[in-house]
Amino acid sequence: MADWLDSITGEASVSPFETVLLIVLLAAVLVILFYAIRTGVPPQSSSRDARRALLHLLPETIDGPIVDLGSGWGALAEDLADRYPENRVVGYELSPIPYWSSLLRRKLKPRPNLDYRRANFLRADLSEYRAVACYLMIGAMRPLAIKLQELPDGAVVVCNAFSLTDWEADEIITLSTTGATMYYRYIVRRGVVA
Ligand SMILES: C[S@@+](CC[C@H](N)C(=O)[O-])C[C@H]1O[C@@H](n2cnc3c(N)ncnc32)[C@H](O)[C@@H]1O
Repeated sequence: MADWLDSITGEASVSPFETVLLIVLLAAVLVILFYAIRTGVPPQSSSRDARRALLHLLPETIDGPIVDLGSGWGALAEDLADRYPENRVVGYELSPIPYWSSLLRRKLKPRPNLDYRRANFLRADLSEYRAVACYLMIGAMRPLAIKLQELPDGAVVVCNAFSLTDWEADEIITLSTTGATMYYRYIVRRGVVA
C-alpha cells in the first residue's frame, strides 16, 4: 500500500520551476478568458485565407491611416502594414496578453508603419481612419456599426465573418477554402453606407 502511494505521489511531484510555470500559464489563460468575456470576442486570429480575402476587398491604395479594430495577436494588422507600407496602420486591442504578444512580434520583425494601442476602440476617435478591418463576433457588430458612423466619407470597412448591423454591404465574397464564411466590404457615403 505504501509503495503504491509512493509511486502515485512520486509521479505527481513537480519541481518548483514547473509549479511556477503552471501558475503563470494558468494566470495567462484566466486573463485571456476574462477579456474574452468582457469584450465578447476571443482573441482568435483570422486565418491566412481570411486575411487574404479581407486584403482582396480593400482598394489598391488608401488615402490615410488604416485601423484593425481588435488586433489580437497582430496577424491581420501585420498583413495590412505589409500591404500598405506608405500608410500608418493602427491596431486597437484590449486584451493584454495578445496585445503584448503583438508588441513582441513587432520587435522581432519591425514594421515602421505599424502601431498598437491597448484601448477600447469603442471609446477611441476613429474619425481619421480611411480604412477599417475587423474580425469580431456577432454581439460586437451592433455597437461597432454605430461607432463607425464617425468614419469620414469614402472610408472603406472590411469585416471577417460577421456583418455590420443595419449597414448595406458594397460587396460580399466567400472562398472555397473557408466554406460558408462571408467577407464583407462597406463604403461610407455621407454618414450612411452604400
Ligand atoms: C477575433 S480577434 C481578431 C484578431 C485580428 N484582428 C485578426 O483578425 O487576426 C478580435 C479581438 O478583438 C478584441 N476586442 C474586442 N472588442 C474590443 C474593443 N472594444 N476594444 C479593443 N479590442 C477589442 C478582442 O480582445 C480580440 O482579441
